[in-house]
Amino acid sequence: MRGFVILVTLACFASAQHQALIDYLERRLLAIEDRISLWHEQTTRYASELRELKQQMVSQLENLDKEKEALRTNLDGVGTRVDRVERELDYLETQNGAQPCVDVDDKLIEQQVTQVKEKQKAKYLKLTDCSDMISSIKAMKILKRVGGPKGMWTKDTSRASGKIYVFNGTDEDTVNQFPSLQDFTRSPGMSLSTDLKLPSAWRGTGHVVFNHHVYYVSLAEEISVVKYDTRNNSVTDSAVFPVQDHVPVYGLTPDTLMDLAVDEEGLWAIYATRQNEGHISVAKMDADSLDVEQMWDTNCPRENAEAAFVICGTLYVVYNTKQPGRSRVQCLFDVNDMVSNEEAPLVYFPKRYGSHSSLKYNPQEQLLYAWDDGYQILYKLIMKKKLEI
Ligand SMILES: *[C@@H]1O[C@H](CO)[C@@H](O)[C@H](O)[C@H]1NC(C)=O
Ligand SMILES: *[C@@H]1O[C@H](CO)[C@@H](O)[C@H](O)[C@H]1NC(C)=O
Repeated sequence: MRGFVILVTLACFASAQHQALIDYLERRLLAIEDRISLWHEQTTRYASELRELKQQMVSQLENLDKEKEALRTNLDGVGTRVDRVERELDYLETQNGAQPCVDVDDKLIEQQVTQVKEKQKAKYLKLTDCSDMISSIKAMKILKRVGGPKGMWTKDTSRASGKIYVFNGTDEDTVNQFPSLQDFTRSPGMSLSTDLKLPSAWRGTGHVVFNHHVYYVSLAEEISVVKYDTRNNSVTDSAVFPVQDHVPVYGLTPDTLMDLAVDEEGLWAIYATRQNEGHISVAKMDADSLDVEQMWDTNCPRENAEAAFVICGTLYVVYNTKQPGRSRVQCLFDVNDMVSNEEAPLVYFPKRYGSHSSLKYNPQEQLLYAWDDGYQILYKLIMKKKLEI
């Protein structure tokens, strides 16, 4: 009986202890569950906040991208407008209040011509042994805007003439002839000019006027050079250029099949053929007979070339980009081997312009007559001796 009582007491005690343990464990579990649910809540909140933040970032990035794009288009537009305004300003400057300026310039040019005349006797030997090369381009003068985007203008390089010739377009047959540079600049449009109707159409912008004769490039069956006397309006001579597989000589000026140039030594042809693997060739021509005297293949590439000219027997090739930028002389070839391409200076044209559809050198004035998108521009060159590099 005593034993039974002890047992029951023990059992009661054990069950009470057990209950306490269970209660304790339950409390702990509840506390842990609370905390877990709190964590869960917090994690969900953090996750959704993070998601929101991410979405905001993405949409802001998208906006930034859009703004960047808009800014870039704006900048492009502004660049083009600035170019245009610059050009118009230069043009207006030469038009307004610039009449005296033009006169002064004409006088300057006349002075140069007379200076050349005076020095002629002393310098005559030099003319056959000419050794000038370009050092830089000193100044630019926009004289006028007459004609279409492509064309060519020049002064007759014979000293006695001084007449200005305008070849508007790349496939026409009527040249506008002005009595002088002054008449050209003060003429409203072409009104002070007389028409010179050639017997056939010219092709491209590669023509010259030299000693009262127009030498123009024409294309009948083959490329030929026609020599036309401006004094009695008659063809003096015409010759097929003796080269096969012609390709347009300048990559950026595809209308110009072949280019002609005049320098101190006479008449040159600048051309390209399929054989010379994308490079420009040059030939010395006899201005009287139109015979080709000698030919050279240069290492100047056709690609991105827009024009070229010859000074003292050195060919200068001018390059640009397809999106017209700043033109520069970036390759030269000296037929006398006095100056190599590596030692030549990189000559940039002033300001940024469209592109030159022609550049014609006048050896008496040391000026380049340029046609840029219908504008007629003069560039004044600074020269140095070839051997003083
Ligand atoms: C010049 O040529 C363009 C076409 O290239 C023509 O539209 C324009 O009327 C011509 N201008 C003059 C003054 O002949
Ligand atoms: C044109 O003039 C040149 C030089 O004065 C002369 O040699 C030529 O024969 C003349 N041509 C014609 C067709 O009169």
